[in-house]
Amino acid sequence: MHDFKYVHGELYCENVPVAALVKRYGTPLYIYSQNTLEQHFRKLDKALAGLDHLICYAVKANSNLAVIRVLADLGSGFDIVSQGELMRVQTAGGNPRQCVFAGVGKTEAEIRYALEQNIYCFNVESEAELQRIERVAARMKRRAPVAIRVNPNVEAHTHAKITTGTYENKFGIAFEQVPALYARASKLKHLHLRGVQMHIGSQLTEVAPFRQAVEKVAPLAAALKQRYGIEFFSIGGGLGIVYDPALASGQPEWWQRPQAKSLLTPARYAEALVPLLQPLGLKVLIEPGRFIVGNAGILVTRVEYLKRTGRKNFVIVDAAMNDLIRPAFYDAFHEIVPLRKKSGASTATDVVGPVCESGDYFCKDRPLPRLKEGDYLALLSAGAYGSVMGSNYNSRPRPAEILVTGKRHAVVREAEALPAIWQNEKLAPWQKR
Ligand code: LLP
Repeated sequence: MHDFKYVHGELYCENVPVAALVKRYGTPLYIYSQNTLEQHFRKLDKALAGLDHLICYAVKANSNLAVIRVLADLGSGFDIVSQGELMRVQTAGGNPRQCVFAGVGKTEAEIRYALEQNIYCFNVESEAELQRIERVAARMKRRAPVAIRVNPNVEAHTHAKITTGTYENKFGIAFEQVPALYARASKLKHLHLRGVQMHIGSQLTEVAPFRQAVEKVAPLAAALKQRYGIEFFSIGGGLGIVYDPALASGQPEWWQRPQAKSLLTPARYAEALVPLLQPLGLKVLIEPGRFIVGNAGILVTRVEYLKRTGRKNFVIVDAAMNDLIRPAFYDAFHEIVPLRKKSGASTATDVVGPVCESGDYFCKDRPLPRLKEGDYLALLSAGAYGSVMGSNYNSRPRPAEILVTGKRHAVVREAEALPAIWQNEKLAPWQKR
């Protein structure tokens, strides 16, 4: 579900014509729909109503302050992976007491800061990290809340680069080693064993791997509750979204269509997992990123040139892999639509950016309507892992970001000005003349 749709042949974000935003702010331009964000959060929240639960939005998916604030206002907690993300949450008005801190490489400084800010829990990824947290907490004369991240060794059937829950991955503690590690951790005086956590991967489109992982880890969670009084079980994030145009064509309830029956929805997710989780009597945390923000954002770009070489039909646009790296990095599919609906035959087209790499493309041989210089295109489902994975490669400034609600809009990130890209650089003293 999302709020980007055609009205009389023109693409709208909620009640705002995208073309009007483009006229005012130029391209490339990220646009987010507040209503979509809210609806996704609420859908999940409602599906999990049978459980004592907390949704901890995975900030890494989109850390714009305004996006964080929308979710904070709905009572969301946050899954963070760095001091920077924690500070963003605080700056946006989120509550550090509802933050869980994940990641395999937390530094001492980050642990200290997070403890000072009274975060809800550290999701711990190794024994060495457990010992480091113990040391930092001892120095601060504090007890640090921790949960061990279990690697359940379950295949998530998603892209290799975003599978996290098998023994091929760097994440978590192998399932078999977890009980002994809790036993050792329980002897460390400055730790408070607050929960247990797992996360098997991202962009999962079936419920089976989630079910398998929860079935495997739930008995362990029950045992940890009994033995150490843990209070929560976090089952991670990973709910996939529909990137495919056949299913994501703006139909408000696309998942009710027959061909979408096997797709993952909050209702299906909850239907499969709530019965397994409820008997535990633990608070359940989930850490969705993409599900909440993925379809809530688009990246708008302008057609700069058309070019035919050999047998290929290239459309060169003003956005590039530095703005949205997912197609280049994961071969990800993003639906591409013109701002003004076009009729007529479509042609196999490669939409490519200006960056000097062959990997700088948004699609290859995709049937698209005939385009011309000056047309505008929207890359859909760009709200998650879009802007956050952006860079200044080729010294390209980062685009502006707009938040829309109903008829209103606001700039929630200014476009970067060109000298700002190199403002922290300087010549070495011996280069000065
Ligand atoms: N929790 C943990 C511990 C995670 O590592 C992640 C994502 C999440 C939650 C949120 O997962 P989500 O609900 O968004 O699937 N850049 C990649 C995705 C990387 C995901 C990393 N971890 C992409 O563009 O597809």
